[in-house]
Amino acid sequence: MSEDNTRYSMADQKARYAKAKKDNNTRYLDITSVYDGSFLKGLRVAVTGANRGLGLDLSKQLAAGGASIVALVRKSSPELDALNPAEVITGIDVSKEECAESVKEKIKGGPVDIVRICRTKVVGDFSFCCS
Ligand SMILES: NC(=O)c1ccc[n+]([C@@H]2O[C@H](COP(=O)([O-])OP(=O)(O)OC[C@H]3O[C@@H](n4cnc5c(N)ncnc54)[C@H](OP(=O)(O)O)[C@@H]3O)[C@@H](O)[C@H]2O)c1
Repeated sequence: MSEDNTRYSMADQKARYAKAKKDNNTRYLDITSVYDGSFLKGLRVAVTGANRGLGLDLSKQLAAGGASIVALVRKSSPELDALNPAEVITGIDVSKEECAESVKEKIKGGPVDIVRICRTKVVGDFSFCCS
């Protein structure tokens, strides 16, 4: 691997962090120095797995950016409820195709602008929530 490639792919996370500190890489050390979430304002974003983990963290960022969250979850959580989502639709198991098919009818507030899937093994097409 060339020296250039290591700029984009350094598998050793500790080494990557140490290099960022050495280089005073503000983009790496402080994402808010380059990230502007204002484009999210007013969007409706459907997030599966919004109750915990990456889906919850993503939802927090969406809420901070002013987006309306349509949470598609098996069950909610106090942390998700605290974000005041526009809709929390429970009983959505993304490993079941019939759940994907039923989602559109369960979303009551109209089409969503973005669908964010926070789990890798997903069965069915959730993209039709957008129209
Ligand atoms: N964490 C990382 O650094 C990282 C990095 C790269 C990729 N990923 C991938 O990103 C995905 C999420 O990671 P995570 O760290 O947030 O995992 P996590 O903390 O285990 O959360 C998984 C989320 O997926 C939901 N979920 C699991 N099975 C589901 C199903 N059949 N139907 C509906 N929802 C389901 C869980 O809901 P319940 O509460 O109902 O179980 C939970 O909300 C994973 O696929 C992971 O491999 C994670």
